[in-house]
Amino acid sequence: MATLIKSAKGMNDILPVDMVYWHTLEAAVRRLFTSYGFNEIRTPIVESTDLFCRAVGEVTDIVEKEMYTFNDKENEKTSLSLRPEGTAGCVRAGLEHGLLYNQQQRFWYAGPMFRHERQQKGRYRQFTQIGAEAFGMTGPDIDADVIAMTARLWSELGLTDNRLELNSLGTPESRQAYRALLVEYFSAYPDQLDEDSKRRLHTNPLRILDTKNPDMKVLVAGAPNLQDHLDTESAEHFAQLQEILTAMGIEFVLNPRLVRGLDYYTRTVFEWITPDADLGSQSTVCAGGRYDGLVEQLGGAPTSGFGFAMGVERLVHILKNRELVSTHPTLDAYLMVSPEYLVSGMAFAERLRTAMPTLTLITNGGGGSLKAQIKRADKSGARFGLTVDNPNQVTLKSLRERTEPMTFTLETALAQLPTLLNQKA
Ligand code: HAM
Repeated sequence: MATLIKSAKGMNDILPVDMVYWHTLEAAVRRLFTSYGFNEIRTPIVESTDLFCRAVGEVTDIVEKEMYTFNDKENEKTSLSLRPEGTAGCVRAGLEHGLLYNQQQRFWYAGPMFRHERQQKGRYRQFTQIGAEAFGMTGPDIDADVIAMTARLWSELGLTDNRLELNSLGTPESRQAYRALLVEYFSAYPDQLDEDSKRRLHTNPLRILDTKNPDMKVLVAGAPNLQDHLDTESAEHFAQLQEILTAMGIEFVLNPRLVRGLDYYTRTVFEWITPDADLGSQSTVCAGGRYDGLVEQLGGAPTSGFGFAMGVERLVHILKNRELVSTHPTLDAYLMVSPEYLVSGMAFAERLRTAMPTLTLITNGGGGSLKAQIKRADKSGARFGLTVDNPNQVTLKSLRERTEPMTFTLETALAQLPTLLNQKA
């Protein structure tokens, strides 16, 4: 036998048994995001590498270590990358199609993203994000509106124990001044810095605040606080956001150490954290913030932006764990056919589907005796069995209850089954 080929590390199959969770989440998102005025956008999985270097930042884990990058076959000088996130592509598409200049836009998207990370539960190399981006609105009202949309999604899904953490990173100028303070502070303790932090000290010192290394907790706790160094306008923006969220009844926790791993953020940043212990350190299910400089950085006119993305695999994991989604099969009927009446049985199945457009019906595939077929019908979880064991006759039987079977000619069945199948359990 030939050796089996397995999926690439960190890239997972999503099997039919889990689809119900994906569909539940996707359906809720589609309905809810539309109701807040967001329109779906689909952008390519492959983009120019430059886009992510400029948007996400050269000195970020994503760009430094995690991108799947390759040269284009046609033109060896063109470097392409699998998208590690969705915001950059949204901005690129918005600019390319003239959708951002001097106007407001609300986009949402869903799709696979790729990061060459160390694989662990909740952290994969191909993962799915659902995200939303709002352009052309500077005030804290849109920050609150978008955060409220995520909060509503949790309540619709029954995930009301997700915790909202908030911070403000100020403007690039105020952050620059704060950055200098941080470098000064951390430089005084070279022995306490781990390798990653030493590297970040002069490239991206804010990321040191985000360290997961427990040995550095005390050092980080003593670092200057960004909140004490915000510019006045950012401080006002942040205060007003908190006021609106409070009035909306949305609880939050201020986390002055929340800095995020992408460079484009200005002012508000937020994360939703699940208390589910088994996701371990991968407990952030949704994250985002404001990025007022990004559109300009990517060649557009100054345009503010605010958005987020959530990790669908993480959310699906929680929905599944907590049995929050009904997984009862929705199959209405299973059609069994005597091998000698295969042709009329199959033709009947198609006519029944035409008569009942919402019917979910499985036909017995692969023959077998009626006895073997009824076993498959029982296993299928269908509510009803339909048996064609006569060229012009079909028998209806509940597969869940002990009721008398009912027999019809094929013609009467087409007229009566729609009512019977819809009414009975
Ligand atoms: P991010 O924090 O890098 O932000 O990713 C957002 C979410 O995607 C994370 O909170 C997590 O739930 C999920 N995620 C990230 N990496 C992985 C992974 N390797 N495996 C599984 N799930 C993962 C962004 O990507 C920004 N573009 C969000 C944004 C949109 N900010 C403004 N607009």
